[in-house]
Amino acid sequence: MDPIPYGRQWLDEDDIQAVVNVLKSDWITQGPKIEEFERAVADYIGVKHAVAFNSGTSALHAAMYVAGVRHGDEVITSPITFVATPNSAVYCGGKPVFTDIDPDTICMSIDQIEDAITKTTKVIAAVDMAGYPVDMRKINEITEKHDLIIIEDAAHALGSERYGTKVGVEADMTMFSFHPVKHITTGEGGMIVTDNETFAEKLRLFRSHGITKDPHVLTRIDGPWYYEMHVLGFNYRITDLQCALGLSQFKKLEKFLSRRCEIAGAYDKAFQDIPNILIPPRPPWSNSRHAFHLYPVRCTGCDRKELMLNLRERGILTQVHYIPVHLQPFYMTNFGYGRGDYPHAEKFYEQELSLPMFPRMTDEDVNRVIDAVCDACKGVS
Ligand SMILES: Cc1ncc(COP(=O)(O)O)c(C=O)c1O
Repeated sequence: MDPIPYGRQWLDEDDIQAVVNVLKSDWITQGPKIEEFERAVADYIGVKHAVAFNSGTSALHAAMYVAGVRHGDEVITSPITFVATPNSAVYCGGKPVFTDIDPDTICMSIDQIEDAITKTTKVIAAVDMAGYPVDMRKINEITEKHDLIIIEDAAHALGSERYGTKVGVEADMTMFSFHPVKHITTGEGGMIVTDNETFAEKLRLFRSHGITKDPHVLTRIDGPWYYEMHVLGFNYRITDLQCALGLSQFKKLEKFLSRRCEIAGAYDKAFQDIPNILIPPRPPWSNSRHAFHLYPVRCTGCDRKELMLNLRERGILTQVHYIPVHLQPFYMTNFGYGRGDYPHAEKFYEQELSLPMFPRMTDEDVNRVIDAVCDACKGVS
């Protein structure tokens, strides 16, 4: 029997055909599929603008830049995230500041945000860990009081909902990732959605070397070839090939999401009474949806590494999300963070194990994982 990975893409013949069609067309890089993909995602979320990038990381970098993060500015985020979240602040010369996590949500502790705010705080970068939608109403109350910008790292949360609206509506800018283990894929890719037109324009400028051909902002026009570089941007452009794949995948998003939720339901039911593991939290609001990018259990009564190795022998491959960012050598050396700074995050890291979670899992795969976990849990302590 083939091993079951913790996550993987689901590509069908129609996805392949969509890419082949672009390969046969006149445009393979900056063609019409990019705007089409951006429009489709913006309409689905319910926002005015979407700007696609060649990765979620470059999208976050652009968002930090556009939010005005510069040398010495502080960005408050969670230590339980992928390094790309705080790194994007560092790219702009900013300093990542962490709150501990709230063990009930595994997202940043909202109660600790106000204490972390200083005169140089610019941005709150809230992460929807595993697809759990962070409580944006509460974060909004704080940012309004202190005039801060919210960037939501929703790499895990395309299709998540809270209080009846999609993740992506409430923050100033929200980032989605289209890496293959995410809800839909473009190979590598990412996107920022926003209602703010100025932000959207600046994001587009940053994505393409800071170069503009907009006659309204050019300082002069030498001829039809003329362009100007107004800010130091990057080549963070996504391609038409990727967006054709994204559009084709996007048609299946709801199917993918409901399968993820179905698998989570089966896992919850099977694991809720196992004494040595704790199932992931669910959002407390009735009109909400957890997008279940991951299914992170906590090994509260057994050794996580032993469980991981035991499951691996049974062909069930798992992952750990995440090593707390403040314990990465880069952050300890350059920003002075250390062990013990965020105890809930560190405890979570010691216990966390992400079980296989991807829509292409068959019922047989799901049952294999359930049987293996139930059996392995008896044998590890
Ligand atoms: C929470 C989080 N933020 C940011 C990223 C970066 O996204 P990408 O891999 O598309 O650059 C990831 C990717 O794994 C992520 O999980």
